[in-house]
Amino acid sequence: MSKVHVFDHPLIQHKMTIMRKVETGTKQFRELVDEVASLMAYELTRDLPLTDVEIETPVTKTTQKMIEGKKLGIVPILRAGLGMVDGMLRMMPNVKVGHIGLYRDPETLEPTEYYLKLPTDVAERDFVVVDPMLATGGSASDAISSLKKQGAQSIKLACLCAAPEGVKRVQEEHPDVDIYLAALDEKLNDHGYIVPGLGDAGDRLFGTK
Ligand code: PRP
Ligand code: URA
Repeated sequence: MSKVHVFDHPLIQHKMTIMRKVETGTKQFRELVDEVASLMAYELTRDLPLTDVEIETPVTKTTQKMIEGKKLGIVPILRAGLGMVDGMLRMMPNVKVGHIGLYRDPETLEPTEYYLKLPTDVAERDFVVVDPMLATGGSASDAISSLKKQGAQSIKLACLCAAPEGVKRVQEEHPDVDIYLAALDEKLNDHGYIVPGLGDAGDRLFGTK
C-alpha cells in the first residue's frame, strides 16, 4: 500500500486557510497555490539521491554533496494543475514538464482525457503528477494510468486538498504511488466537491465560473 504524506507545517496550514476563504480573490489564490506548491517541493524531493563532489572553497579543497542528476518530470493535470507548476519549478528548475488534459463530467463525475504530452524518455524519469484537488480520485487515477501506459515506472501524486474517498481510490488502483497532500479534508458532498475544501480550484485560479 502506498504512503500518504500530509504536510502539516504551520506555513502550509496558514496559507491553505486563506486559500479556502470564499472572499479570497483570484490573484491571491493563484499566489498561494504557487507558494504552497513550492513548499511541497521540499518534501517531495526529500529522497533524492546525493553524490560526493570535490570543490574548492575560498579556504580549502573539500568533498561536499550535490543532487545526483536524477531525471525528474512534473505532470500537471489541466487546467488546475498548471497552478502548481511554477512553484515547483522554482525549486527544481531543470525538471521537464509533461501535460495531461482531463475534465470531470459534471453529471457523472467521470474524467475524460483530451490531451497528453510527456517527455520522450518516460521510462527513465521520476514523475510527480500535480493537481490541487483530489476529490473522487477519478482524474488523478486516470492520469496515473495514462502515464503508466506510456511507460512511466516511478510516479508520485501531489495535491493541495484531498477527500478520503479520493485517497482511497488512488491507493487501491495505484498501490505503488505515494500521495503528498497539503490537507486531508473530511469528505465529498453530493456534487463531488471536497468538504470543507476550497471550491472549484480551476475557476478560482483562472477567474472563470
Ligand atoms: C478538478 C480538479 C481535478 C478534479 C478532481 O478539475 O482540478 O482535476 O476536478 O476531481 P476528481 O478527483 O473527482 O476527479 P476539473 O475536472 O474541474 O477540470 P479543470 O481543472 O479544467 O477545472
Ligand atoms: N474539483 C475541484 O476543483 N474542487 C472540488 O472540491 C472537487 C473537484
